Amino acid sequence: MFEKILVAADGSEPARRAAEAAAELAHRCGAELHAVHVVHAVKPSEEFLRFAEIEHIGPKPEFLTLVMPPGPERTGRPFPAVAVTRAMMEAMAEPALRAARDAARAKGITKLKEDVLSGDPAAALLAYAQSQGVDLIVAGRRGLGALGSLALGSVTLKLCHHAQCPVLTVP
Ligand SMILES: Nc1ncnc2c1ncn2[C@@H]1O[C@H](COP(=O)(O)OP(=O)(O)OP(=O)(O)O)[C@@H](O)[C@H]1O
Ligand SMILES: [Mg+2]
Repeated sequence: MFEKILVAADGSEPARRAAEAAAELAHRCGAELHAVHVVHAVKPSEEFLRFAEIEHIGPKPEFLTLVMPPGPERTGRPFPAVAVTRAMMEAMAEPALRAARDAARAKGITKLKEDVLSGDPAAALLAYAQSQGVDLIVAGRRGLGALGSLALGSVTLKLCHHAQCPVLTVP
């Protein structure tokens, strides 16, 4: 029934269950499974890149994003971070993708495609689904934010509103 299934991976418990459900469906349908994580990031402005060049910074930042500070500076709020290169983004995505990969493998899936995107998570997932011809998106109802009493997180809500294909939400 489905040929290309996308599972949205953010490292949360609902996303892990979404990966299990997606893997089971992919297995039954003989579908391709794509696990995708989006690093919430923005492109640096020209002004920022000029400033960075004048200050002789190390690797050219490809993206600007937020990170949770480790150790005693951990405040529960992310800090702005710069100089995020492609390699760093891949490292940031790894825990979320690993969780999806492990859940999929436990369901017997061996052929799994993994991708790391950047930008607004919902917009990036929707663009990916369109460009890759995905025919089912599977996402957790909630994710890492999990604050408040809303039934659906904001990423899943946007996916349900705007996707051109069916969306399966997993509690
Ligand atoms: N950055 C991301 N990359 C890939 N998938 C994501 C990402 N963020 C969320 N998702 C998907 O969306 C699901 C719901 O997460 P969502 O972010 O919508 O809710 P939340 O984190 O509980 O609330 P908030 O709206 O505060 O972020 C996750 O289980 C996951 O499947
Ligand atoms: Mg979230």
